[in-house]
Amino acid sequence: MLYNYGSINIDHVYRVPHLVRPGETLSSLSYRQVLGGKGSNQTIAVARAGGNVMHWGRLGRKDRWVLETLTSSGANIAHIEIAEEASGHTVIQVDDEGENSIVLYPGANHGFSRAHLEALFSITQPGEWLLLQNECNATDEVLALAHQHGMKIAFNPAPMNAEVRKLPLEHVDVLFLNRGEAAMLLDADDNTPTEALLDQLEQRFPATEIVLTLGAEGVAYRHGESRLQIPAQRVEAVDTTGAGDTFIGYFMAARLAQAPIETCLQRATTAAALCVQREGAAPSIPTTAELEQVLAQQPPHDVLTSSS
Ligand code: RIB
Repeated sequence: MLYNYGSINIDHVYRVPHLVRPGETLSSLSYRQVLGGKGSNQTIAVARAGGNVMHWGRLGRKDRWVLETLTSSGANIAHIEIAEEASGHTVIQVDDEGENSIVLYPGANHGFSRAHLEALFSITQPGEWLLLQNECNATDEVLALAHQHGMKIAFNPAPMNAEVRKLPLEHVDVLFLNRGEAAMLLDADDNTPTEALLDQLEQRFPATEIVLTLGAEGVAYRHGESRLQIPAQRVEAVDTTGAGDTFIGYFMAARLAQAPIETCLQRATTAAALCVQREGAAPSIPTTAELEQVLAQQPPHDVLTSSS
């Protein structure tokens, strides 16, 4: 079982000709309300990939419809608390290139209490996986509790902020980052070359598996002697929202199934490429059947392997 301590957001998605500029008023070309939230997206991706996942989250009373979406993906929702506060929500602009910008209101995602966290951890077993992102409160406590309970931890420090540097990241087994997040975590320049970022991450977190997503350049993986890189697939991006979450969910599902790391990366990369070709967060996360169809039609990716 994988437990995902994660946000649930209602995404308000506006299609725009370009991302709005300071002081500008811009008419949107369309508007959609969909399920999102990095946590919820990652849970759905794990579940659609066939993984056994329980979501730990908080949701405002009027958004119960979300539970049905999560359940129909195959996720366990037994520990989603219906909160008095409003759900988390976002305002997302998506431009003609499929790029986005997001304003996030945390809402119920920031209402976890210590007692609630202890109750959640009481159902876990040592050796089980905890996945978390950085859209809920008490990230530091959750990392510490997971460590105390002997769990394996996968962490995606998104959205990144300066507080992340103070977290007990030495407890993390798998760290998922993009280039910008890696640079901020390391306090490095945004233009730092990928290899230098990977070297610095490896020095800082020698026991941690590093998964660095590189957008159009693909993904790089480092752990001890193991160094892999997989190029991105060339696809036409309609909306990149949720692509990183899809990658993480598919990676973790393959990991739970004890697949080799090359397989975890290949499945995750292919799933993310499918996600960016569709609009919205949760609605764009592919099913395993869709992934298998693509994998059956395409030659395997080149995996670049080198040892340190
Ligand atoms: O990673 C994409 C997600 O980030 C969106 O669904 C939005 O809710 C924000 O949390």
